[in-house]
Amino acid sequence: MPPLSEPSFLKDFVHFESHVAELFQTEGWTVEIVNQVSYDLIVTKDNQIGAVQVKWLKSPVQKPQLSKFVDFLETQAGRKFNCGFFITTQGYGGSARALIRTWGDNPKLLCGIAAQNEIIWINDNPDVPPPTPPKPDKIYFGVFTCKGGVGKTTITAHLAGAFVLQGFNVALVDLDPERNLHKLIGDGVYLPKPQNVGESIEVYDKDTWDEDAARDCKIVICDCSPAFERNPEDLVKKFDYCIIPTTFNPLGINKHGQVIKDTVKDIRKINKHAHLFVLVNNFRQTTNRQMKILKNVFFEAYEELKETDDKFHYIDPEEVCIRSSDQLYYWGIHCLENPENPRSELAFKLIGGKCKPREDFIDLAYYIETKAGLGILRNES
Ligand SMILES: Nc1ncnc2c1ncn2[C@@H]1O[C@H](COP(=O)(O)OP(=O)(O)OP(=O)(O)O)[C@@H](O)[C@H]1O
Ligand SMILES: [Mg+2]
Repeated sequence: MPPLSEPSFLKDFVHFESHVAELFQTEGWTVEIVNQVSYDLIVTKDNQIGAVQVKWLKSPVQKPQLSKFVDFLETQAGRKFNCGFFITTQGYGGSARALIRTWGDNPKLLCGIAAQNEIIWINDNPDVPPPTPPKPDKIYFGVFTCKGGVGKTTITAHLAGAFVLQGFNVALVDLDPERNLHKLIGDGVYLPKPQNVGESIEVYDKDTWDEDAARDCKIVICDCSPAFERNPEDLVKKFDYCIIPTTFNPLGINKHGQVIKDTVKDIRKINKHAHLFVLVNNFRQTTNRQMKILKNVFFEAYEELKETDDKFHYIDPEEVCIRSSDQLYYWGIHCLENPENPRSELAFKLIGGKCKPREDFIDLAYYIETKAGLGILRNES
């Protein structure tokens, strides 16, 4: 699998610009964001007043970009500044570095690369490589199918439980106006804690969630509304992974194929980078022969998607699936029985030493961790 998403400050220009502004502030500058054509920030400290150009780029800065800013600083409008700063994401290409070297001890601009906690100034050493991006702050999962009742809420809650058992803290975001997640587990769940296990699951809704919420949670899982347009676009854009639950019954498969296609189409309207995993839920044991027939139809329904979208995957139900179980069924019923009194529990209790949902979700979390490279979130990686 390719690496996970970039740190949030690199996500787009707006995030990057406010990150740069904060870095100047920590160096003692007063910062004003102005976004003029020729410069983006004005920074002042003592008797210095500087214009800052912020470049959010996917490739290194080249000479013409620096020259243009130098030219601006020499115009009348530019002369009100007594210093200039050029700050970028990906470092400086050969032509830009050659120009910086010609300035020697008398730089026309101070050129820097914004890293997570500092600006790396490169005038004295233009050959410094761009910083390796830090580990991403959070990994976002969506659980979404544009169809009701396929197990989105069940999967969201129990996948979180399995990640907690693997040592992660998890935040859930309940995006469904029905608020089933809240009805089922309230504000969160504490799992019994064997050694070295993560802390808890916290539940937010779309109004209480923001990037800084749940500071200690590296994994965020969003229980989506089946009506795609009800899910906030800025959150869907953040999904690194999306689990698409479906069922595996003989008569429904072709119809479900269409539902999955529509689901993928919805997600791709606003998120092109997420890895999408179709997961079979409510799986019932079949004979080998029946399994073969079902799998043929199941895989065939997704062949076309797989060919056109290299981040679309379906999970072979013989490898990982969520089996139909009384425990998950009863867990869901609680929502109707007693919505005012969430029970803050998952269907993970061992009965006679066994628990189907617990095994299945641990397998799913393991599958995601190994197939999707979640290992990079662990400290030891
Ligand atoms: N593997 C399973 N075994 C048994 N029952 C299940 C299983 N998965 C889900 N259910 C039950 O099916 C019902 C629907 O599941 P769930 O509410 O998670 O679906 P959903 O996609 O979130 O629905 P909605 O679109 O209404 O939000 C619930 O009653 C749940 O308990
Ligand atoms: Mg739901």
